[in-house]
Parts: sequence; structure tokens; C-alpha cells
Amino acid sequence: MTQDTLHLKAPGNWINDPNGFIFYKGQYHLFYQHFPFAPRWGTMHWGHATSPDLVHWQHQGVALFPTKDYDQNGVFSGSALEVEDRLQLYYSAVRYRQINPEDIHCAGQDDFVTSQAMMISPDGKEFDNWNAKRQIIPVLTDRAIGDAKHTRDPKVWKAGDSYYMILGSTDGTTGKALFYRSRDSRCWEYAGQYPSEEFGWMLECPDLFSLDGQYFLIGSPMGIASGPKYHEKAMYAPVDFDQASCRMELRQPMACLDWGLDFYAPQTTLDQQGRRVLVAWMRMPQPAPSPADGRGAWNGMMCLPRLLSARKGQLYAQPHPNLEKAFCCPVEAKTVDNTRPYRLRALLRPGETLDIGGYRIWLENGCLYTDRSQVFAGCQGYRLQAHTPPLEQESCRLEIFVEPNLIEIFVDEGRFVLSSVVYGLAKYLEGTTIECVDAAALEAVSGCGEN
Ligand code: FRU
Repeated sequence: MTQDTLHLKAPGNWINDPNGFIFYKGQYHLFYQHFPFAPRWGTMHWGHATSPDLVHWQHQGVALFPTKDYDQNGVFSGSALEVEDRLQLYYSAVRYRQINPEDIHCAGQDDFVTSQAMMISPDGKEFDNWNAKRQIIPVLTDRAIGDAKHTRDPKVWKAGDSYYMILGSTDGTTGKALFYRSRDSRCWEYAGQYPSEEFGWMLECPDLFSLDGQYFLIGSPMGIASGPKYHEKAMYAPVDFDQASCRMELRQPMACLDWGLDFYAPQTTLDQQGRRVLVAWMRMPQPAPSPADGRGAWNGMMCLPRLLSARKGQLYAQPHPNLEKAFCCPVEAKTVDNTRPYRLRALLRPGETLDIGGYRIWLENGCLYTDRSQVFAGCQGYRLQAHTPPLEQESCRLEIFVEPNLIEIFVDEGRFVLSSVVYGLAKYLEGTTIECVDAAALEAVSGCGEN
């Protein structure tokens, strides 16, 4: 089995959304949308990786794949729950109504239906795709509830002695969240819905959780941006949620979870210490070149795990503290070559530019700006510049994680995060750097941080 450190990547070929993220029986399980046959999207499987610490990942192969009439064309996104010692996986099951004769991995005329299904694993190791699946919410026929095609991505949790599910859906033009409830985690009843213009034309991957006494909704509304790609973004808002009635209300307009260009479909879970941790898919417009580890062309990766906290209705995201042990070997900024992961800390003042091998970071009109036009060759039609909202102070403190295809910038202790996929960073680092530490050869050097 291959291993990944830091950013979980496709073990080859294609990865998209994180699914079934959970700490279960002493380790983290992270499933993900996976097309195992080419570095592009296609018939969805759930790939599976485990980790003792959210830093070192072990690929466990494919856990879920199509076997049933109702999921024959894809096992779409969903979540995990521990119930009486078992690992229960909830997912959207896709069935094409038309086949594209030249590409059976995409629906003909984009014509498909979706139902919700679950799989019960006794231990997180065995996934019986023939005998342990069941359909739990059939394809919707009542348009007043939701769409037969675009209703998906169950996120499930337990509260009191009931189980709850939130799903993304649409009425055809406006996105909505649907709620279902269950006494036993297997039989589900429709419990309500919340439509909002804030959800674009369809809401993908909703996640609802309480943090420091406040509920937050995160989700990925489609069609909320125009112009260059992408037109959908991962957003959040504090919400009022009443468990008894499953009524939800946004308290304010949704804000970006990450102000970069590629972060999408985040999912949260509780870490070993009970803290809220988030991972998301970093979309990549083209596959990365085959690395030396022999994995072959790959497309897509997870961002670093982020610890969430709430202040005045705003979510702050910090790199998960477990990452600290990975970044332990100080390096001279002059010697950084951008071909392996490192972290840098910097204080950026107005007028200064930090240049990470062609990826430029500066302050303008009180906001943090980034530009990747030098390190995005061959990708047409995508946004190149990103910026945060106005910052509180003139200068800002940055904690930046660099790896050859991804730069994640944590601004002012997690007030904002801005992440960008890049290709072909040059071998230099220029600008004021306070501290630079390497995560080179994490396994080989684990002696320098771990004990
Ligand atoms: C989000 C998404 C989900 C869906 C999955 C399919 O990226 O479109 O809504 O379940 O990806 O791969």
C-alpha cells in the first residue's frame, strides 16, 4: 500500500470530495470520491485512506463501488457515523437514465437520478458491496420536497436519541437544504427544508455542526460566481437550527471558507480530542506530472486538515496542531527549492512582495492579494488572482504551507485562509521571511520531531 504525508492525494488517477471523514476505532478514516481508471472525473467510487494523526496517510484501496441497480453509475459523496461499534457510511447513489455510448462514465445528456443509500461496515476494514448496502431514501418523486436528479451528499449526525441528515437539493432554480430524521439510523423520514438564494441554483455537500454554542452551515453552492472558472465555491454562515422541528435560518449572508480559487466540497468531523476539523478537495485543472513514487498521473488532493474555531459568528481555520511535528527542520530561506513541502512564517507590510517561486503575495487596499499567472502554464480559463476581504491591520502575519502543487496561506491566525493550486514553481523564495521549516522526507526525518 502506498503512503501519503501531509496532503492526501489520489493514489493515482482522480480524487474529488472528501467523504466519510471520521475518527473511528483509534484512527482517522478519510474516504474520497475516486475514479480509479483515469486522471479525470468518471464513475464514482469511494477511495479509502487511514491515518493515526492526520499527517501520515495509508491508502486502503477502494471501499465502495457500484454494485446495485440504484448505484450502478456512481457512489457519490456522503459521510460516516459510528453506530454501536460499526462504521456506517451514507452516500448518494446514482443511476443514469441515458448512457453516452462513447463514454459510459458520464450520463448521456446529463440525464440521471439520485437516491440515498448506506453501507454498514463491521470494523472500517470490511466493506461488503453486495450484502451490506441498502437504499434508504428512494429517488424523490415529490418536487415540492426536492429534485430527482440533484439531491445529494448526505451528512449525518446523532443528537439526543435521534439521527439527523442534511442533504443538498434544488427546486430547479434555487438551492435548498433538506432535513431527514431517523430513530435507528436506518429508516429515515423527511423533516423539512430550507431554500435560500445564498445556495445558488443547487447546494452541494452541506455540513451542519455546532461550534462554541453556535450552529454553522457549510456548503458548496453552485452557480454563485460568473466569469472565469470556477462558478461554485465553498461557503459558510452561522445559522439558527432547531433540532425538534429541523428548522434552519441563516443569520447572515454566506462567506467564503477559503479565499483562494480551488478549495471545494469541504467536510468536517471531530478529531480525537473532540475538536472540529475540516478537509476539502483542492481542484486541479490538469493532472500533475507523474511523481518519482511511481503513482502515475494524478489529479486532485486534500488541503491540510484545518481546526475550526468561532469568533463573533466568523469561522477561523488554523492548521491542525498535529502538523507541527511534520515541520521541524529549520532551513535557510535561500536554499528553499520548492520541490518539497515546507512552511514559512512572515510578517508582510504594505509595499512588500513575497515571491514563492513565481507565486506572488502582496498587500493592496488593505487586502492580501495573490497572483499565480507565472505558475499556472497550460491552464486556460481559470482565475489567476485572488484576494481576501480587508484585513484588520496594515501589516499581516502569514503562515504559509508550500508544496509543489499547492500553497495554503493562513492569514492573521486563521482569520482568513487563501489556497491556490500551482504548477511548476521555480526554485527560489524572495521576500521577508521570519522562519522557514522543512517537512522534507517526513518519514526519514521523523526523528527530528516525533518521539
Ligand atoms: C461535489 C460533487 C458532489 C457529488 C460529487 C460527485 O464536488 O459534485 O455534489 O456528490 O461531487 O463526484
